Amino acid sequence: MTSATARAERREQTAVPAALVLAMRSAIGAQHVRTGVAAAIDPGTHPDNLAAGIVASPASTEEVSAIVRLCRSHGVPLVPQGGRTGLVGGSVSQPGEVVLSLDRMNRIERLDPVERTAVVQAGVTLETLQAAALEHRLEPGIDLAARGSATIGGMVSTNAGGVMAFRNGVMRHRVLGLEAVLADGTIYSDLTRVVKNSAGYDLKHLFIGAEGTLGIVTRVVMKLEPVPLATATALFGLPSVTAALDLIRLALDGEAGQLRAAEALWQPYIQLTASAQDWSEPGFDLDLPVYLLMSLGGAREGELREEFERLFAEIMERFDEATGIVASSQRQEEALWRLREDTDVLYRTHKTAPSYDVSVPLSEIDRYVARIASGLAAVEAGLNPYLFGHLADGNLHIVLNRAGPLPEAMSAAVEQVLYTGLTEIGGSFSAEHGVGSKRIHALAATADPTKLNLMMRVKDTLDSHVLMNPGKVLPLASLPANEHGGQAHA
Ligand code: LAC
Ligand code: ZN
Repeated sequence: MTSATARAERREQTAVPAALVLAMRSAIGAQHVRTGVAAAIDPGTHPDNLAAGIVASPASTEEVSAIVRLCRSHGVPLVPQGGRTGLVGGSVSQPGEVVLSLDRMNRIERLDPVERTAVVQAGVTLETLQAAALEHRLEPGIDLAARGSATIGGMVSTNAGGVMAFRNGVMRHRVLGLEAVLADGTIYSDLTRVVKNSAGYDLKHLFIGAEGTLGIVTRVVMKLEPVPLATATALFGLPSVTAALDLIRLALDGEAGQLRAAEALWQPYIQLTASAQDWSEPGFDLDLPVYLLMSLGGAREGELREEFERLFAEIMERFDEATGIVASSQRQEEALWRLREDTDVLYRTHKTAPSYDVSVPLSEIDRYVARIASGLAAVEAGLNPYLFGHLADGNLHIVLNRAGPLPEAMSAAVEQVLYTGLTEIGGSFSAEHGVGSKRIHALAATADPTKLNLMMRVKDTLDSHVLMNPGKVLPLASLPANEHGGQAHA
């Protein structure tokens, strides 16, 4: 038997019941329940995202509810998907499950410039919302490199953060209300469009960061922010993290403009992206330990550039080896941002390089970076981290200079180095990418047992049949099926 036949047979054995496929097709239209070659769409960042082999694309909340009810009646699990570009395997599926894609729920239903709110369907991409808001000189207050693929529903589900989180918070702080389809098909609707709402438990937060394990987010009310008339961008080279944090503090206290981004690129990272893009600037060497890409927003570009010059003079007084360039054209500004955002080059250089996403309190970053550098070298000679990230909020991305996946023992040793003591110093092993399927063991290893127990109880209350995105977030691969709820899983 060829392996292709074996695979086909395995799919056959675990395929969802034909009666379910038929019922879903009659509920939302045959062409919107794709199977076989029709379901072989772009899998995104994980090769198993579409392993289920069946993709249902409902066009409304009611249709999502219909699909959920049908799957539940057949005991078939659902894997909700947005842009499929998550980094922790939160969207992987397997035969016997149904992928529920929010791709057809891609309408901005309301954008109110006076309220500064937007009501959007879950499948709207961040970029689409950014463009629509910009027409009213507004923005969602959150931005990240994957803006073209990341959907608002996916960003809610992972509690995404990005470059402006230090200023505007993460998704949890941007969402005013949301609607979600629960595991029994019931629609939870809280489309509040105001900031203040203290009417009992704020249950929307259960669905934010739950990665679809408690329900499927279908619509979201986002808070919007005014966009400054002008922006300016600069790149500084600095001798230390301390210097970079000083510069951030100076910029926050600045005389003109508001700090919009302060992204750190450690030397190995900027050298890699600069060389991939053939980027260089006369007199600006890439031999300092850390670089800081900053963006200021304000009324007049000239004033913002002057503010950067003033910041540079101030930081030079404290650290005379500092260097800096201020972008003088939009093209130059975009080139500077590419140095930061072209993370793909890491994976082209080291195939499926292991990557991590930690949060470290600012006062601990210097010590943390030194500790992981020596810890990783002790795991394997020559093992080095590419470090970059959202320095102003303490979110560091760490990618290893080695192809992945790592052998199991080495992976455990690396995680030991990166995660040990993080909770104790007030950080987190998962800053903004979520837990997915990839980080469950890290959650199990580091979370307070009371938290884990409460998570299990919440899961059992909302999805006792374990049909919502199984195998994600929760430390148990599956909870025992429980018709009546209330069973303890401690
Ligand atoms: C970034 C992704 C990796 O900040 O979170 O580029
Ligand atoms: Zn990031």
